[in-house]
Amino acid sequence: MRTKIAGIGHYVPERVVKNSELTKYMDTTNEWIIERTGIEERRYAEKHKETPSSMGAKAARIAIERAGIQKEDVDFIIFATLSPDYYFPGCGVLMQRELGITNKEAGALDIRNQCSGFVYGLSIADQFIKTGMYKNILLVGAEMHSMGLDFSDEGRGVTVIFGDGAGAVVLQPTEKEGQGILTTCLHADGTHAEELAMINPGSHGGFHLGTEKYGYPDPSVPGGVFVTQKMIDDNLLSPNMSGQLVFKTAIVKFPEVIKEALGNCGLTTQDIDIFVPHQANLRISQFVQKLLRLPDEKVVNNIQKYGNTTAASIPIALSEAWEQGKVKEGDLVCLAAFGSGFTWGSALIKW
Ligand code: UT7
Repeated sequence: MRTKIAGIGHYVPERVVKNSELTKYMDTTNEWIIERTGIEERRYAEKHKETPSSMGAKAARIAIERAGIQKEDVDFIIFATLSPDYYFPGCGVLMQRELGITNKEAGALDIRNQCSGFVYGLSIADQFIKTGMYKNILLVGAEMHSMGLDFSDEGRGVTVIFGDGAGAVVLQPTEKEGQGILTTCLHADGTHAEELAMINPGSHGGFHLGTEKYGYPDPSVPGGVFVTQKMIDDNLLSPNMSGQLVFKTAIVKFPEVIKEALGNCGLTTQDIDIFVPHQANLRISQFVQKLLRLPDEKVVNNIQKYGNTTAASIPIALSEAWEQGKVKEGDLVCLAAFGSGFTWGSALIKW
């Protein structure tokens, strides 16, 4: 028995934010952003109205309908995000409530694997389905980056890249010969954990990190310190990224983990019908495409319209490609992601 994607859907917020709008807030240019990242515009959710779980629910409703099931049939939820509605509980239960999937108290699991969250989620779902534990797993990747970005000049290296959105799939068992997830490969290396991260607020207390650099300690607060005035004053409550380190590592790990997946199945890059990379940076995807010698028509890129939506990027890109008729029955679909952690992974799916 294998696991198939029975239904797929995505949701992106209405508000389009072009590069020219960002130039009003920070010292950047349309030309710089396009040249370095390929991004022309991204979407921002409606603040104080939309959240990752509400966007996830919108994508999930489409995936559920396309899978031809009722919401009550969902027996497990996996939610991947790095920008959750709450510090806790996770978005899985919030989306479950929003969807009204309360009939059989289906389990809900949140995973925090950033850019590779969807690939990790797919692998987790695959194991549950193959063991026969669940029959309809709802896997969602959703992000609301716009809420946590730094719109000052200091944040420009990170802020211009990210956008909001959600993608969802329904996973089911299949016994059809050759169909389904053929393999998933998951990897991590925490050596550079802080090089692409949002450190605060957190429970680290400066431990490991150097107290001053991350705004600790604040002697005026008794007990544990979660958010300090220094963090606010020193602008330490937004993500940071060593862009070049991430770029250089990504272009090594992407091809490596794709070749690992192909090797597991006795396949080669020529067998790939459609490649859906995590939409990190158009230059990264183009580099990997060239290395794998894949023609343009086999590679899905939509970062130009949505920016980097982290855990949502692969399901949004896959859903769009499917809607455009680019993913057909019998196609070998290759997914791959790399990001914060560092964590990375790949999946091969016979559609
Ligand atoms: O999903 C995984 C998440 N992240 C990634 O995949 C990111 C991977 N890395 C990248 O995509 C690239 O490293 C970036 C697009 C983030 C940056 O491009 P880069 O070519 O590596 O630029 P850089 O960081 O080396 O900066 C070059 C210059 C610097 O100025 P100086 O020091 O040369 O004067 C930056 O201050 O560009 C400046 N810069 C900007 N200029 C205009 C940085 N951000 C901006 C900006 N607009 N938004």
